[in-house]
Amino acid sequence: METPPPSSTFLLLLLLSIFLITPPPLTSAAAGPGPSCRSFCGNITVDYPFALHDGCGHPGFRDLLFCINSVLMFHIASGSYRVLDIDYPYRSLTLHDPHLSTCDDVVLSPTPLANGFVLDPSRSPYFSPSPDNVFMLIGCSPTSPLFQGFPGKHLPCRNVSGMGCEEYYGCEGWSKLGSHRRGSDSGSYGSSPPECCAVSFEAIKAINLTRLECQGYSSAYTLAPLRVDGPAAWSYGIRVKYSVQGSEEFCRACEATGGSCGFGSDGERQLCMCPGFNSTSNCDKGSIADMSASVKREMELEFVIATWAGLLLLVLAWMA
Ligand SMILES: *[C@@H]1O[C@H](CO)[C@@H](O)[C@H](O)[C@H]1NC(C)=O
Ligand SMILES: *[C@@H]1O[C@H](CO)[C@@H](O)[C@H](O)[C@H]1NC(C)=O
Ligand SMILES: *[C@@H]1O[C@H](CO)[C@@H](O)[C@H](O)[C@H]1NC(C)=O
Ligand SMILES: *[C@@H]1O[C@H](CO)[C@@H](O)[C@H](O)[C@H]1NC(C)=O
Repeated sequence: METPPPSSTFLLLLLLSIFLITPPPLTSAAAGPGPSCRSFCGNITVDYPFALHDGCGHPGFRDLLFCINSVLMFHIASGSYRVLDIDYPYRSLTLHDPHLSTCDDVVLSPTPLANGFVLDPSRSPYFSPSPDNVFMLIGCSPTSPLFQGFPGKHLPCRNVSGMGCEEYYGCEGWSKLGSHRRGSDSGSYGSSPPECCAVSFEAIKAINLTRLECQGYSSAYTLAPLRVDGPAAWSYGIRVKYSVQGSEEFCRACEATGGSCGFGSDGERQLCMCPGFNSTSNCDKGSIADMSASVKREMELEFVIATWAGLLLLVLAWMA
């Protein structure tokens, strides 16, 4: 086989390898902003770890929020709640249950209309009503699990963050109800349990009105660091804390490099969605494993050719 003189082969290979080493046209796909996961529902910003689009946000928060006619809804085992606010710096959200009793209205029904608050086991690592949130269970049956198993008929009922039933009884809503039994909500009780029993979520882990045999409930919180005056000034709603346990770093790094935080099709593994590719770390350190199959093949081929060309080049340069 006739071989051309080394010098011309050298030039040819030099040109060829420069051409081959040039990065693949990945950059053309990268033009423009990356996929965005941030969205709005009414005037509420929906951002990490929450999301409205599938694949966006934290996997523990998937299929949780729904935007219906500009109303943001939060959906868990006990029902759907309107989201009034998402407080990102304090990692909390405020929910509204339409059948929640307030100071103006005490809503009771033999078969509870209100949701209460029960989390699915898969959600409990991520959500918990705030320790400053008081749940006031109303009209619970004497046979309620709430009043069982407490020696000396002591009750689990107590004030939470300075809010409790004693003060709640002073509300307008109670006088509208007419006659009702009250009893005492402190210490122990005699013939009948109190009409209202205040608890923290931590104390009973689930506000299931059916299981607790209650006719209604109220939930209140105070945002002011100082005690506010009386139940008319409390905020009625459910204040829920959320946490994403150690994945905040991942998302911060992803967003800092221009990506959007999401998760893979397995619904578990976190992904950083970068312009044109997905990464398991961030958009600066795109891992080949997470690029789309065609881009991956292209890059591997490119790498193999460039390596061989480089080697040949070295050998020929040495020969020349
Ligand atoms: C509440 O308790 C009732 C009765 O124990 C049960 O059937 C129901 O599934 C519970 N609801 C939730 C949301 O867990
Ligand atoms: C959204 O708008 C309503 C009134 O339409 C207002 O009461 C509420 O405070 C607003 N929420 C936020 C988070 O800005
Ligand atoms: C709750 O607070 C009220 C008002 O400060 C007080 O009168 C009541 O005894 C407290 N109740 C309990 C159960 O500690
Ligand atoms: C990145 O992941 C998202 C969510 O799983 C998916 O919808 C999208 O198609 C992926 N993009 C690429 C380039 O693979």
